[in-house]
Formats: sequence, C-alpha cells, structure tokens
Amino acid sequence: MAVRQVLKMGDPLLWQEAQPVTEFDTPVLHDLLTDMRDTMAELNGAGLAAPQIGVSLQVVIFGVQDNPRYPDAEVVPETVLINPRLSALSDLQDEAWEGCLSVPGMRGLVSRYLHLRYQGYDACGQVIDRSVSGFHARVVQHEVDHLYGVLYPMRIRDLRNFGYNEVLFPDRPPEIDD
Ligand code: NI
Repeated sequence: MAVRQVLKMGDPLLWQEAQPVTEFDTPVLHDLLTDMRDTMAELNGAGLAAPQIGVSLQVVIFGVQDNPRYPDAEVVPETVLINPRLSALSDLQDEAWEGCLSVPGMRGLVSRYLHLRYQGYDACGQVIDRSVSGFHARVVQHEVDHLYGVLYPMRIRDLRNFGYNEVLFPDRPPEIDD
C-alpha cells in the first residue's frame, strides 16, 4: 500500500472527534491499517492514529520494539485498537517526555495515568481487554487522545517543558529525530 502524509499540528482535521468503526474485517479497514503500519514504520513512530493521516475513524495502532526514536523504552506489543475505551486503574500519574509525528522535532513533558485498562476491538472485531502500566499505558493514552482531537502539547502543564528535541536532548545522535 502506501506511506501516507502525516498531518501536522495546525491542521483542523486533528481537532476533530473521530467516528466509531461499524464494520470490521472489511477491505477498506484492512487497507487503512496497512497504510497506517507503513506510515508508522517509515517514520519510526511508537503509534499512529487514523486522524493523523486524515481519516476520522476511531482506529489506532501502536507498538515498540527496537525503535530508534525510543531506544530505552520497554517493549509494547504491536496492536491494532479500534473503538477504544480507557479507564484508569488508579489515580497515580507520572510525567515523561512525549513526541508526536504530528508535532515533528519537539518534545513535551506530559502527565499520564500510570495504570490503565483499555478495551476495544482488533481489525476482525475480536475483543481486546488489557490492563497495562508505564510506557505501554502512556502510548495508549497518547494515541487515543488523537481520536478526541487532543494533541500532547495541550496537556503540558508548564509550557517551559515544551521545546525542540535537539535543545532539550543535545546528546542524542542527530539521526534519532522525528
Ligand atoms: Ni501523536
């Protein structure tokens, strides 16, 4: 299929609320997921939401294994998550630096729930129901935010904790940028 163009912050499509998927295991849905996987792999993303390529559906993908953009991250299984519902399993939150393919070259410090249950469906309509923590929980919260028109800079509490990657992290090799 194809690597698609990722919309950047400022594009009004990124502020829209995405619609639920009503038909699973269709050629259209599988083609969308192929494009999303190709695009995420090309850009070394940890995840991608359908609205980021201009498709306003409740579809996200994520997964982290040996990703040069996240060299120290724990492994997150490759997952397709459709029509997701999230619930925090405790009030505990932690802060960490996030990036986004729609906000290239930047990082921001964002607080997220540490322990999370997520439910939804895979591409064939099979139920997904997982309880996760840490980086895995963070990635899911970031991606699902995209389905509600929320980009991570909107969640930064102190905008002094938002900046250019090479300024914030000057020791990172230049090829590890987004
Ligand atoms: Ni993002």
